[in-house]
Amino acid sequence: MSEPSFSADDLPFGLERRPAVRLRRLRRTEALRRAVRETRLHPAQFIWPLFVRSGQGLRTPIGSMPGVYQTSVDELLKDAQRAVDAEIGGILLFGIPDHKDSVGSSAWDPHGPVAEAVRAVKQAFPSLLVITDVCMCEYTDHGHCGVLTSEGDVDNDATLELLAREALAHVEAGADMVAPSDMMDHRIARLRDELDDAGYSHIPIMSYAAKYASAFYGPFREAAESTPAFGDRRSYQMDPANAREALREVQLDVTEGADILMVKPAGAYLDIIAAVKRDTGLPLAAYQVSGEYSMIKAAAERGWIDGDRAMMESLVAIARAGADLIITYFALDAAAALRAR
Ligand code: PBG
Repeated sequence: MSEPSFSADDLPFGLERRPAVRLRRLRRTEALRRAVRETRLHPAQFIWPLFVRSGQGLRTPIGSMPGVYQTSVDELLKDAQRAVDAEIGGILLFGIPDHKDSVGSSAWDPHGPVAEAVRAVKQAFPSLLVITDVCMCEYTDHGHCGVLTSEGDVDNDATLELLAREALAHVEAGADMVAPSDMMDHRIARLRDELDDAGYSHIPIMSYAAKYASAFYGPFREAAESTPAFGDRRSYQMDPANAREALREVQLDVTEGADILMVKPAGAYLDIIAAVKRDTGLPLAAYQVSGEYSMIKAAAERGWIDGDRAMMESLVAIARAGADLIITYFALDAAAALRAR
């Protein structure tokens, strides 16, 4: 048996014994790395989720989300000031009502926490982008994202009417954009009609288009006090195993008039972000959810990872996959890190 013999001619172009191609050349200094960097983060991409409730001087920490609070409107205004100073893209408001019932009637209360917060923030900071989350789960006593049938299922079409009232209440209070997160079928069309009929055809809708039934929402449910009292959300949120179905969800929302699409969660769904980006020309948001945030925070607290680096790496990965906007509890920290570079 003869020894195999190699010559440079057998090797593909670029892999001669003295190769011309050396990818490390462009990694040698920070100046070179910076010059050829393909993805750049900017504070304007970040949307900061905030939790508001009634009261005065309230700033209650969320145990499972270090650095995240439920606040009253007066305290929320301080966060809005921070958002303006950090020049981030905007804020996304979630409300915790005083009163929950089976139909979530506080959701469209013109004096509920979200409506009051929107009015106060828009008055103090007219140019800050204020988006509101539209969903029933914070407002229903059973914690599901809609009203229930007598069998205990979430009633899709009955829920659409309530979501429309909620969205209109937020927009009447001055919200710049609404973001429905309930995952009912045809809610974009219903909200579009409601807003248009009321004279708000200029208000955009950011659709949580592909939202998965995810374990990564755990800490949020403490923050928003929205854990379902029974069952789970798998009959309306998507199965984490499905990618083609995400494109159907997205197409439906595009047809119904969504202005911005969202994929949620972000980090475990980068393939979905990339596919939605490829398939549509619409602006795309990705929601780095509570569990993604808390995992990085918890590991960093234990000294198991470098929290700042993990934060920036997780965000640049989401942007690299194709997200234009990133909804993240790291919004202020990441903006500060970018400024410090
Ligand atoms: C409400 C809603 C949820 C989140 C955003 N809107 C929770 C859920 O669907 O259970 C999760 C956000 C997060 O985990 O940070 N429907």
